[in-house]
Amino acid sequence: MAARTIITTQVAIMGAGPAGLMLSHLLAKTGIESTVIEVRSHQDISETVRAGILEHGTVNLLVDSGVSDRVLREGDRHDGIELRFNGESHRVDFNDLVGEAVWLYPQTDVFLDLAARRKADGGDVRYSVTDTSVHNPEGKPVVHFTDAEGVEYELRADFVVGADGSRSQCRSLVPESARTRYFHEYPFAWFGILAEAPRSSDELIYANSANGFALISQRTETVQRMYFQCDPKENVQDWDDDRIWAEFRNRVNGNGFELNEGPVIDKMVLPFRSFVQAPMRYGNLFLVGDAAHTVPPTGAKGLNLAIHDVKVLFEGLDSHYNSRSGLLLDSYGDRALERVWKAQQFSYWMTTMLHTPADADDFSRARQLGELNSVVSSRHGLAYLAEAYTGWPSAT
Ligand code: DHB
Repeated sequence: MAARTIITTQVAIMGAGPAGLMLSHLLAKTGIESTVIEVRSHQDISETVRAGILEHGTVNLLVDSGVSDRVLREGDRHDGIELRFNGESHRVDFNDLVGEAVWLYPQTDVFLDLAARRKADGGDVRYSVTDTSVHNPEGKPVVHFTDAEGVEYELRADFVVGADGSRSQCRSLVPESARTRYFHEYPFAWFGILAEAPRSSDELIYANSANGFALISQRTETVQRMYFQCDPKENVQDWDDDRIWAEFRNRVNGNGFELNEGPVIDKMVLPFRSFVQAPMRYGNLFLVGDAAHTVPPTGAKGLNLAIHDVKVLFEGLDSHYNSRSGLLLDSYGDRALERVWKAQQFSYWMTTMLHTPADADDFSRARQLGELNSVVSSRHGLAYLAEAYTGWPSAT
């Protein structure tokens, strides 16, 4: 067997999703070398439909660090959302409440912008690799992988970063005795669709009803993204267009409001859970994004949290290499986890406030309406939601 080809870099990054690519981009700007390896193909990642809401901090990082300003030109700025319950809509005016906004710009586009920028800057990003394994995270890490042409490599680095998503291989390198895993399961999932139809509303609608939750989001002038709460074991084959639209009508229409309907061009069931693995560092291995934590999708925090982890880790690595101080790097996990738990709380809260468990009794249903009313009738309640949705100030 031919010997492995040895390559060296400063930071080995496992995963070329938005988190891995953003880290590689930021490092390159301050002269720190990285190699990114990814088991999926560029095409596979760019065809996966993911969430669509970016916090203002995420948008600023994309634009200010020179990834692309396409989000400002092609994304849609949203100054609020609608909470709909008991057949009535209540606007949450982000701009008025906290002076901030979010952008509707699909994660796929964030990936395409980052991948194009890394390519244009000559970044070392290798897609479609196989047989990946990470060794010696406690000391000088080594990564083995085989590239798309079948060449076997040994990648030697100072640090290895697990940006390898919710099925992370890196997270399992941390021995059980050195980490805690926090789990919360929910009794529902989301049925997500893409439909060819005009927009039904200028802003996103988060709808609570006795028949369950629904979210009316958007993609383009002619394609809309929508979700409804379903059983985690739901099978997409059992749902034709008529059945899907009847479900949405039951949850959202009423009091003169009607959704625009059209052919369903994609459908999927999205699992739901909360998960955190702490600490986010083990020796010279750092975990970022979904590799370290998962939130339920209500509130669209997943990608935004991953980008925040990357920002904090970048500051630590920059300080380590360029200021010869390890302090910021040592505090990476604590600084990142503070926001992770705020986002866990927010996503859990939005989820439980808006979804209706199949076995909800009269008390829990009436209590839920009491909770929704206490939010929409109070500037403080609305401001709590607006601040969390648009994104808290970054860790200092
Ligand atoms: C979308 C997804 C979310 O989870 C959310 O809270 C808002 C929007 C989306 O895919 O558009």
